Amino acid sequence: MRRFMMALMLVPLASAAVGNGDPFGFLPDGGRGIFARAFPDSRAQQAALAETRSAAEWSAALAGSGLTEREAATLAAYLAHIAPVQAGLDPVADLPRDGRDMALAQCQSCHSLFSGYLMQRRDRQGWLSVFASPFHAAIPMTEGERAIFADYSAINLPMRLDEVPPELRF
Ligand code: HEC
Repeated sequence: MRRFMMALMLVPLASAAVGNGDPFGFLPDGGRGIFARAFPDSRAQQAALAETRSAAEWSAALAGSGLTEREAATLAAYLAHIAPVQAGLDPVADLPRDGRDMALAQCQSCHSLFSGYLMQRRDRQGWLSVFASPFHAAIPMTEGERAIFADYSAINLPMRLDEVPPELRF
């Protein structure tokens, strides 16, 4: 536990996605991206991924880590879904898709991300209910992935209009 905190406090907190030319860099990091920042070396990463904790327990463990409240909640929900898991030599490379990954990969082919996703205010259950309609039920996401997606989306959306680049507001 103390090792976690040490690792967490040494982390540079700038979002990896912002400023590297990614047109979706404005979309908040999901658990995968935050994990890589919160646990900087593979030993700390393997130790974290071996833990069995609820989202509430992860939130408590991440308190004071230097993450924003929202980032900590996002990471806590993600870890509660994916851990414990036996991590390999490069734990970050093996992490499953997070909510951000899924939104970018699965939610833009039929309508814009802006109208169908970024501006939507829903709680976890509201996001899960999106998958009830036949056209959404067919999206290739497992039940576990839908849960990760629903938590990420409930915590991080809606975005503010001024956070979205003008060319994506359609
Ligand atoms: C296979 C096509 C398709 C994909 C992929 C798709 N949608 Fe949709 N979505 C639709 C259609 C069709 C509608 C209905 C549009 C309308 O009512 O005009 C819709 C409407 C919506 C709505 C508003 C209507 C409602 O249910 O309240 C939301 C929210 C939404 N989609 C979210 C998502 C999310 C989140 C994803 C990714 C997980 C996604 N969509 C991916 C086809 C798709």
